[in-house]
Amino acid sequence: MTSLTDRTRAMFSIEIDLGDHFESATTRVLHEGHAVKVYERSSPRSLLADSIRFMIAERVMQLEVRFRGATYLWLPGAYQLTLDAFRFLACLEQENLSVTSALDAGCGCGVIGVGLAHLAAPRRLQLLDVNMEVLANAEANTAQIGDETAVELRHAEFSPSALEERFDVIVSNPPYFPSGAIAVPAGRVTMTDEFNLTEALIRGFEARTNLLYFTFSEVLGTEIREAVDAAGFSDYFEVVDSWEAPIPRSIVSDLLEDRFDVILGNQDELRHRVSVGRLRQ
Ligand SMILES: C[S@@+](CC[C@H](N)C(=O)[O-])C[C@H]1O[C@@H](n2cnc3c(N)ncnc32)[C@H](O)[C@@H]1O
Repeated sequence: MTSLTDRTRAMFSIEIDLGDHFESATTRVLHEGHAVKVYERSSPRSLLADSIRFMIAERVMQLEVRFRGATYLWLPGAYQLTLDAFRFLACLEQENLSVTSALDAGCGCGVIGVGLAHLAAPRRLQLLDVNMEVLANAEANTAQIGDETAVELRHAEFSPSALEERFDVIVSNPPYFPSGAIAVPAGRVTMTDEFNLTEALIRGFEARTNLLYFTFSEVLGTEIREAVDAAGFSDYFEVVDSWEAPIPRSIVSDLLEDRFDVILGNQDELRHRVSVGRLRQ
């Protein structure tokens, strides 16, 4: 199995083949390139099984996920790659986008922007993140994008006033929760107030694009809809997809815990509904 990088595999790496319709996930855990554990799950509810979650923070050098013919590489330092990202891509596929320019705001390892390039082959794709460290990871993932798409990597905080360009579409899988509401383990922490990207995206609609897709947690659905109303865009807003996702109880603060559902029979996990919002003019 070839890797997207030349990094030596001194420690563990994980490869996941995700079924095209989320019907299965075949996981291989490798040590120095040799498989030490292989297992298959049907209808996975999260990308990583509980048993290997700890490895991501502590010992795993890289994760590769294969989904619908493309491979997405994740390296430590980038925000954890989640099943939500792939569900978001599946949603974007249904939208049959025809776009010339695209921005992935808060690109992390680049999964959404690179997936969009596979779907829509825009002539221009910008991958932007406030965290400099993740851009090398995103760049590695762009190697598989065809020559028809010119890729720009940009280290910046998304702000509608700082950005001068317009894009046919802006896509974003931003942090879902305000700072302090979720205790994200070190190495996966975003470097800015965790909710301001969503707010900036909503405010920047119209000035920077006529078509915006972003994921959000329905735990904060009221706040999101209020932000859309406050910006004057309620007529353009629609939820185009939605799914249920688990979240470890240990990372959710008391401030928000009441807003999640408890997964029956599993006191360690809470669940929330993740939606894809579309603003289209
Ligand atoms: C939840 S992660 C998702 C990363 C990637 N899009 C994915 O789906 O795996 C959110 C990303 O947004 C970035 N980010 C957060 N606030 C930002 C802002 N205001 N401007 C630009 N990037 C931001 C973080 O550094 C992080 O990489």
